[in-house]
Parts: sequence; C-alpha cells; structure tokens
Amino acid sequence: MIRDSELSDLIKYEDFQPGELWLDTNGKPIQAHGGSVLFDNGMYYWYGENKDGPNSLSRIGIQRVDVIGISCYSSSDLYNWTFEGIALPAISDDPNHDLHPSKVAERPKVLKNDQTGQYIMWLHVDNEDYTLAKTGVAISDNPAGPFVYMGSKRPNGVDSRDMTLFKDEDGTAYLIHSSDWNKTLIISRLTDDYTDLNGEFTKAFIDQSREAPAVFKHAGRYYLLSSGCTGWYPNAALVAESDRMMGRWELKDNPLSGVNARKTFYAQSTYVFPVQGLENSFIFMADRWWPEELADSRYVWLPVTFMDDGIEIKWADRWDLNTFRK
Ligand code: DGJ
Repeated sequence: MIRDSELSDLIKYEDFQPGELWLDTNGKPIQAHGGSVLFDNGMYYWYGENKDGPNSLSRIGIQRVDVIGISCYSSSDLYNWTFEGIALPAISDDPNHDLHPSKVAERPKVLKNDQTGQYIMWLHVDNEDYTLAKTGVAISDNPAGPFVYMGSKRPNGVDSRDMTLFKDEDGTAYLIHSSDWNKTLIISRLTDDYTDLNGEFTKAFIDQSREAPAVFKHAGRYYLLSSGCTGWYPNAALVAESDRMMGRWELKDNPLSGVNARKTFYAQSTYVFPVQGLENSFIFMADRWWPEELADSRYVWLPVTFMDDGIEIKWADRWDLNTFRK
C-alpha cells in the first residue's frame, strides 16, 4: 500500500505535457478549468472551475456540471501543484444564490490589489440557460482564500458571459468580457480597488463574436487571444494587438502552429501569464473541454514566442521552462 507521503514523491513532474492527465501532489486530477494563474510572494496560484461531478444536460441542451466551486492550487515550479482547497465554494442552501449548484460559475480570474493588499476574484455567473449573464466578485485577504462573495452585476448594465481580467504595469485593471449575446467583446475599466467598474468602457470587437478572452502585455504592446463561439467545441483562436487597452484593436490571424492549430489544438484559450524571473516568457493556458464528461477536460499549456510581426504558439508534446532560455 502506498502512503500519501510516498505518492507525492512519485508524482514529480519535470515538464509540461499539454493535453495529458495532470495530477496534483495528492495524485488527484487537477480540477481548475477556465482558469487563471496569479504569482504572489514566490508562489504561483492556479484558480479554476472545479468540475469534479457528473455531467447533465441543461434545459437548453448544453452539457453542464453542477457548481462545486472555484479550486485553488499552489506551486513554486509551475509543474507540480498542491490543492489548497475550494477557494470559493458553491452555496447549496439558497437556490437563488449565484453560486447555487444549479447555476453556472465559470472562468474565475484573480488579481492582487497592491493598494489594499486584497485578492479580488471576478467570474462569470449565470443560470443554466445563460440568460442571467452577470459578473460576480469575491474578495480574500489570502491568495488561497477563502474568498467572500460580494454579489454580481451586469457590467455597465450590459450582459456578460466569457470574461477575463488584466492588470497593467501601472496597476490599472480591466474586465474584458463577451457581451451583446457574445457578438461584441467589451473592455471595461475597474475601480482602483478592483471590486467594481469605474464606468469607462470600449467596444473593442463589435459583431466579431469572440469569447474566451486572454490578455497580456509584452514590450509595451497588448495582445488579446480569443476563440470563436462554438460552445464546448474547438475553433480557431485569433490574436488581436493594440498599443492601448482602450485604444484601437487590430484582429489578426491565428497565431498557432502545428497539427490541429486551426482547432486551437482541440482547446480554448483561458489565460496567458508571464513566468517570473525569465524574460519574454509567457505561458498560454487553454482548456481541452471534454463535453460528454466535463470533469475529464484537460489543460493545454504552451509557450508564447515573440517575433517581429507578432506572436506564435507552437504545439509541443512535452516542453519545459528551458524553452524560454534558448
Ligand atoms: C463556451 C465558453 O467559452 C465556456 O466557458 C462555456 O461557457 C461554454 N461555452 C458553455 O457551452
């Protein structure tokens, strides 16, 4: 019989294996879908949807898993992740609560506010037919939670489904969200404490039908990756570039290369984050959804390469952080 302490010795990853089963340090499949990564005090924190439950069909015929909550994992090396618990759990005893198991809680993103020292989570909250279309906000004093739910709203009064957050170098933060029934991607500024919207927003991609946004900045330039709108099924990612978050965005082509690049390697963007201490090193995070059994959905993490005329995200069966040192 293998004891837990021995098991954690056995599971030692030394590289990334996109699309393969990824176990946490207890030997359990990582449950952090539609997620994001935050670096804080020498540790990385990975937040995502815990979908470790049975699939069911919603009343509008979409595969779903009842809300369990938002998981948090921690890691010092990005390969090996320790489960820190459900940082924002479902609320089972109030059927009207945004986080009731019968609802939808997706794409959690967490920023640290350097002024208040707080960790602020935004996520997409909805009902099972996706007509509520709101953003929820939760706050914690610790990166691993527990997060306290503050409520939800339609940002600047409009519907909001897939979403992400982006924090700029000067501390300004933005919500980037699909609106107008997913036809238009909107960029909205957050208040200085990141718990609300400050009222400024721009319609960045009108009638372009983009979702799954992921924003990052490199060498003064902003990049926005997104997918088309085909539910849990993959399509071609596109990248857009801009010199200003609230400026004019230019939608470019698919930056992926390799087999199945036009299907985003059978995955969908969720976040891009920089590796600490390594220059020009950003990791593209995507979800390889498994619609019939969402709990078994996998993760596709790949390095972003910067070129004179844009970025490239190349498929690799296995890779490690030395890729950034070459
Ligand atoms: C596509 C979105 O990107 C996912 O987050 C999820 O909402 C599915 N649609 C549901 O079909």
